[in-house]
Amino acid sequence: MKTVLITGATGAIGKATAMELAKQNCNLILLGRNTEKLRVVKADISQATHNHNIEFIHADLSEPKHVREACDEIKKKYSSLNALINIAAVFNSKREETTEGREFMVATNHLGPFLLTNELIDLLKAGKPARIVTVSAPSTTKVNFDDIDSKQRFSPGFMGVFGATKMMNILFTYALADRLRDTGITANVFHPGLVKSDLTSDMPLILNLLIGMMSGKPDKAAKMLASLALDEKWQNSNGAFIKFDGKDVKSSAYSHDKEVQEKLWKLSEELTK
Ligand SMILES: NC(=O)c1ccc[n+]([C@@H]2O[C@H](COP(=O)([O-])OP(=O)(O)OC[C@H]3O[C@@H](n4cnc5c(N)ncnc54)[C@H](OP(=O)(O)O)[C@@H]3O)[C@@H](O)[C@H]2O)c1
Repeated sequence: MKTVLITGATGAIGKATAMELAKQNCNLILLGRNTEKLRVVKADISQATHNHNIEFIHADLSEPKHVREACDEIKKKYSSLNALINIAAVFNSKREETTEGREFMVATNHLGPFLLTNELIDLLKAGKPARIVTVSAPSTTKVNFDDIDSKQRFSPGFMGVFGATKMMNILFTYALADRLRDTGITANVFHPGLVKSDLTSDMPLILNLLIGMMSGKPDKAAKMLASLALDEKWQNSNGAFIKFDGKDVKSSAYSHDKEVQEKLWKLSEELTK
């Protein structure tokens, strides 16, 4: 039985993915910030799939202290992990700060998964062959390294901080895949396509409605995510950017720039210390 840790399971894509993994008889750890929602999701999945090997762990990904505490708890309970799927993300139209003064989307969408992944690497090594999949989007937005917390200027959308955090997911995965080469762990990044969810509910109403009209069910993305985490077909795939139909996404030259990848890695280490 494979043990898979998944973030964002209280959201549209995360819940559908957890359901798919439960159907495939995985042992699931759902990591999230809202205990009540996690309880409901766990009950729904267990009822629908008759898989009772599901537990949830509380952690707000925007707070490094929470992430470390959750990882300590996981390390106490589990001796290995077979897959980690980073799905959670947030979109804010106004600038918000974490208790440490970090811009909230950068902290949640990138720094949280960065820390979680690094903290769990030894468990994944113990569970090898193991897989890390991080959900992103084909962003072309560059990272503003001079003002990472948007203290001077905040712009929220796909061309602003949110888009930059999705670029960070890509840069992080490519740098991680390089580091993991020949370790028995792979790291890939995934684009789910447009899926109906509450992610963009903080956007202006008209934009949110338009996105909703263009979006579909999470099922296809969930099946492909589960496949990336489990199927033999993907066992040699490392450092790839794959979309919901299994085809490659061609990401920007900027995302492949090793200097940028390493700059982000170093900064992320400093900011999550
Ligand atoms: N939907 C799309 O069309 C689309 C397109 C491209 C990429 N994506 C990517 O797909 C992923 C999932 O998106 P979705 O559409 O399923 O969104 P969603 O339904 O809004 O789900 C977001 C998930 O992230 C969790 N989350 C947010 N902030 C968190 C925090 N600080 N700590 C822990 N968990 C937190 C949410 O938990 P709560 O339930 O507690 O809020 C929820 O489980 C995201 O990475 C997104 O960027 C989505």
